[in-house]
Amino acid sequence: MTVLPVPDAAIIVVAAGSGTRLGADAPKALVGIDDRTILRHALDGVFAAAPMQVIVVAPAGFEGDAETELRAAAGDRADLGRVVVGGDTRQRSVAAGLAALWADVRIVLVHDAARALTPSALIDAVTESVRGGEDAGVIPALPVVDTLKRVDAADVVAAVDRSILAAAQTPQGFPREQLEAAYAVAIASGAEYTDDAALFAAAGHAVQHISGAERAFKITVPADLERARHLLEDAAEPARAPRHSAASLPRVGVGTDVHAFGGEGNLWLAGLEWPGEQPLSGHSDGDAVAHAIVDALLAAAGLGDIGEHFGTAHPEYAGAHADVFLARTRELLGEAGFVIGNVSVQFQGNRPRFSARRAEAEQALSAALGGAPVAVAATTTDGLGFPGRGEGIAVTAVALVVAVQGAPVR
Ligand code: CTP
Ligand code: MG
Repeated sequence: MTVLPVPDAAIIVVAAGSGTRLGADAPKALVGIDDRTILRHALDGVFAAAPMQVIVVAPAGFEGDAETELRAAAGDRADLGRVVVGGDTRQRSVAAGLAALWADVRIVLVHDAARALTPSALIDAVTESVRGGEDAGVIPALPVVDTLKRVDAADVVAAVDRSILAAAQTPQGFPREQLEAAYAVAIASGAEYTDDAALFAAAGHAVQHISGAERAFKITVPADLERARHLLEDAAEPARAPRHSAASLPRVGVGTDVHAFGGEGNLWLAGLEWPGEQPLSGHSDGDAVAHAIVDALLAAAGLGDIGEHFGTAHPEYAGAHADVFLARTRELLGEAGFVIGNVSVQFQGNRPRFSARRAEAEQALSAALGGAPVAVAATTTDGLGFPGRGEGIAVTAVALVVAVQGAPVR
C-alpha cells in the first residue's frame, strides 16, 4: 500500500450561512446550480487543486448533506475531508474550522463555498504564494471596473479613485500559527471583521494580493446564481456553432421587436424618456429599440435571446430601463468572450419625432454598451401597417461582435 504524504496545507470551506439574500428554501450552500449544489461545485474545485486537508463548515442540522457532498467531490481522497458545524457568524464558522486542523498543517486557506466556480488554479496560486512569502497573508483580488462615487443620501459627494482599490475574493491564505493567534485575539475581544484578511491585518500582519479570477465571484443574490448557471451551461455545450476558422471572423446578429402603444406614464424609447409621448406597453419599460438591440447582440454571440435572459421569469427586470438591459447584455457577452463591434438599429413609427434627440439617444445606448458605436434611425411607413396607423412601433437591430483572442468561441 502506498502511504500518501500528509499535506502541509488545509482549506476551510465555510458553508454554514443561511443565504438570506439568495432567498432559497435551503441553506445557500445546498442550493443547486445545475444538478450539483453550490457546495459540491466549490468542493469539486478544491479537490482539483493540490491535495490538502479539506474542512467543510456546515450549517447545524445539515452535516449529513455536507458529508455526502464532500464524499462525492473527494472521490478516493475522502481521507482528506471532514465536516464540522459552523457558528452564527462567518467568523465563528471559520473558528470552528480552525479547531479541526491537523497538527501537520502549516498553511491555511479560508474559502467561501458561495464562490462555487472558483478555479482550482486560483486555490493553488494562493497556497503557493503563502508558501513562498514571509508570513504574509495572501488574498486574490480583482481591479474595480465600475466608476465609484462617495455618496451621502441622494447626493454624490465625491469621485473615488478606483486605481487604488481592489475587490477581495477567496480563498484567502495565511500561515497557520499567525492566523490562529489572530483569531484567538479577535474572539477574545469580540471584534467582528469583514473578512479573514482584515482580521489578520488587525493583528499586525502583512497581507498581499494576487490576481483574482472572474469565476471566483460570490453567489449572493438570485442573479448571481443565474450567472453561475449560464457559465456552466456554456461549458457543457462548448459549441453551438462548430469551432473552425470562421471563429476568428466577426459575427453578426439580428433582433426585432414590436410594442403596442398603451399604458400610463411617459414613453421610454432608445434609452430616453419622452415626456408627453404615449408609452409603449411591455414587461419592462417597453423600450423596443433597446430590446431589439439586446436580441441582436445575444444572437451574434450565440447566447440565445432576450426572453431567456430577461423574460417574465426574471422579475428583477420588470420596469427596468435600457441601460440595465444593455449593461447586463454586454456583461453576458464579455463572459462568453465577445466584445461589441457596433450596433445599427432602425424603428418604424409615426411618433416620437426622433431626429432632434438622435445624438442623445445614440450616446445613451452607446454608453450602456461600454462605448460601442450605436446608430439609430427612424422612419414612417407611409401610413401602412400598424406603425402607419399609429398603433405601435416596430424595430430592427443588427449587431456585430468579435470574439476576443483566446476566448471560448461557441
Ligand atoms: N458563512 C458561514 N457561517 C455563517 C455565515 C456565512 O459559514 N454564519 C459562509 C457562507 O456559507 C458563505 C460565506 O460564509 O459561503 C460567505 O457569506 P455570505 O455570502 O454572506 O453567505 P450567507 O451568510 O449564507 O448569505 P446572506 O448573508 O445573504 O445570509
Ligand atoms: Mg452573510
